[in-house]
Amino acid sequence: MWKGQGFGKTILFGEHFVVYGLSGIASGLSNKTIATVEKSDKFEFIDNRPETPGYKEKKKDEIQRQIESLKKQFSISQPIKIILEGNLKCSSGVGSSAALASSIARALNEFLNLGMNAEQINKAAYIAEEAGSGAGRVSGIDNTCSTFGGFIWFEKNLDGGPNKIERFSVKSPVEIVLASTGITQETKEVVGDVKEKKLANEEEFAKIFDEYRETCRNASKAIKKENWKTVGLLMDKNQELLRQIGVSCKEIEEIVKSAKDAGAFGAKLTGTGRGGYVLMLTPGKGLQEKVANAVEELGYETLKTELGALQ
Ligand code: MEV
Repeated sequence: MWKGQGFGKTILFGEHFVVYGLSGIASGLSNKTIATVEKSDKFEFIDNRPETPGYKEKKKDEIQRQIESLKKQFSISQPIKIILEGNLKCSSGVGSSAALASSIARALNEFLNLGMNAEQINKAAYIAEEAGSGAGRVSGIDNTCSTFGGFIWFEKNLDGGPNKIERFSVKSPVEIVLASTGITQETKEVVGDVKEKKLANEEEFAKIFDEYRETCRNASKAIKKENWKTVGLLMDKNQELLRQIGVSCKEIEEIVKSAKDAGAFGAKLTGTGRGGYVLMLTPGKGLQEKVANAVEELGYETLKTELGALQ
């Protein structure tokens, strides 16, 4: 039996702003997908990962393309069994597909005794992600967070070349709560709406972008110093800017308010917005529990996990 793992991911700063070439910060989650490879007499893929209802069915073809890409990259011709499990509940926005790719790449590397390093695993995961989502549609954020864990500073290359990705880490992982609004949004649509709003309000957006740049710069410094109070305030600032560009919604605001009232250091939407997930910074198990309970009382599902865990 040969095993490999891949972390989930969340965007801490910069969703939507990164579309325009501004920097973003993402992090691996402590929750992971574990892949096991076994010898078998036929090819089998067993997906035991917990899921948001309907996720695996919706992603069936994408998952198939990822598996085929990995089999091809590792020249797998013999029949094997691949089993996926772990405590990363698969749903949109937490890096599930990247965690699948890097965990299987790692397990195949062990199975074939190739001695690949993490950079090479990351490359294989990126290629599998591209096969799943379509060439040119993958930034590299997810597979990098998934393979290495820790934090990454990210800038999209608007000319189409490789994106800038710099890894950094903290001494101890920090507790967070993620809450699902239960609403799934099409990223393409929301990004399109923001684009239209920007075209109609260039001056206002220029001001918002300036404020965001400063927020993200300060956030990177504060994370490196593990100054979580400041990081929380900057998350709140980022949320305010996301409101201004029109990607928050009633459910997100309800979660943010209850988290802040319960003592969260910061709370903001993460990912596409107008639904999806809310990220709450809650250093310490006690605060994490308190904030998660407050949000659950409103009827939202939560995930208690950590940012910054390393491979
Ligand atoms: C979606 O997870 C993040 C967005 O910034 C879109 C993107 O960067 O591709 C909204």
